[in-house]
Amino acid sequence: MKFSHDFLFGAASAAYQVEGAWDTDGKGMSNWDEFSKIPGKTFEGTNGDVAIDHYHRYKEDIALMAEMGLESYRFSIAWTRILPNGTGEVNPKGIAFYNDLIDECLKHGIVPFVTLYHWDLPLPLEKAGGWLNKATVDAFINYAKICFDAFGDRVKHFITFNETVVFTALGYLDGAHPPGIQDDPKKYFQATHNVFYAHAKTISAYKELNQFGEIGISHVFSPAFAVDDSEDNKLAEYHANQFNTHWFYDPILLGHYPEHVVCQLTEQGLLPDWTEEELETIKQAAPLNDFIGLNYYQPHRVKKITADVEKIESTRENSTGSPGKPSFDGFYQSVKMDDKRYTKWDWEISPEGFVDGLNMLKAHYGNVKMYITENGLGDEDVIVEGVPCDIPRINFINDHLVAVRSAIKDGVNIKGYFAWSAIDLLSWLNGFKKQYGFIYVDHSNNLARSKKASFHWYKDVIDSRGENLIER
Ligand code: BG6
Repeated sequence: MKFSHDFLFGAASAAYQVEGAWDTDGKGMSNWDEFSKIPGKTFEGTNGDVAIDHYHRYKEDIALMAEMGLESYRFSIAWTRILPNGTGEVNPKGIAFYNDLIDECLKHGIVPFVTLYHWDLPLPLEKAGGWLNKATVDAFINYAKICFDAFGDRVKHFITFNETVVFTALGYLDGAHPPGIQDDPKKYFQATHNVFYAHAKTISAYKELNQFGEIGISHVFSPAFAVDDSEDNKLAEYHANQFNTHWFYDPILLGHYPEHVVCQLTEQGLLPDWTEEELETIKQAAPLNDFIGLNYYQPHRVKKITADVEKIESTRENSTGSPGKPSFDGFYQSVKMDDKRYTKWDWEISPEGFVDGLNMLKAHYGNVKMYITENGLGDEDVIVEGVPCDIPRINFINDHLVAVRSAIKDGVNIKGYFAWSAIDLLSWLNGFKKQYGFIYVDHSNNLARSKKASFHWYKDVIDSRGENLIER
């Protein structure tokens, strides 16, 4: 089966991870500009001050993407370039940069797919309470409207937020991302609710503009599967999916929170402070979502915790997605299994889990339109005679595209696939050691770009609309 011609083959990036130019042309400081410089917070103290200098080299990068045949480029806008303080005066040079980037994509026939928030919050807003402060919601809506006005004539695909679970859980529960909080789980749930409310208000504002584009949100998708069929572990699976998937997807797609989680949070005194107006806004906005974006890297294998477990102190090392940590409420634990395959960073490789998970979503949410907005392999690429030979990445993306195709056959409504990432970039907590791109960036040679083996392979996938994929 070939992928249809209205299926977008793309690749993605995020502003902080590629742009660099952290204080150039009037850009304000973000939470990450500060947090990444606190000793011990990132791998070997890496930060995005220069990143891969996409800010200055975007023309070269887009030209390479065009050569690869990329149909769409998903990138994010740095809020701090548009509004250096988060609110107030607009920075014309920030608007100009994204106008140029968008125009460069269009010049090459690449569809710009724009994320408004990929974790880099303006520092003054972070200092004023970040996503715990409802003023951040208003500030975000204002920023989003400025972007719609400035770019909406050419950008027809907007994503409001990237992976709410990651920036709120790591920021307000584990302390591994800014603002580095880990004293009260209620803050985590409050932050998620405030983000959902901001999303609801933003998509309503977008629809009022009649820009004839589409808008949605991107969530990480890590379906939980019990390690065996025991009643206890099946309960762990249910609990994990309720907290990590349905808490995030239900308010967006169904307009209300899952009952199981609401009951648990009520019992534990962790329910967010919300108003009737906020809940009603979330409900009214649900049908306005045009799509949901899924970022899939791995599933979780879970088992119920039956004895008392010692609470593990969160650190950078144990907050980077590998299995082992108990859930915040001590109910279940994710585990590494002997019969599964893992990346060098202990992320499970499971295209089967992807198909099963997508079917699970279809059963729960019906025919909703989906884009896979991230999927890829983090690896240390091997260089053979000067060429980055990323064969494991080719295998990984091949198998996950086959999974997408199989889910489409099952009736899941998937309209595009964005590999993470278009080009090697900065991993938030793992520096430059962990690579994801089709384009290699040589940090020992002035950030020179070169084509990996996967670059040529992905071009063939796009040219043949997936006919060259291998089913194993
Ligand atoms: C996703 C993020 O969670 O995972 C990306 O949206 C990130 O920004 C990607 O880079 C991979 O994570 P990591 O930790 O391997 O860099």
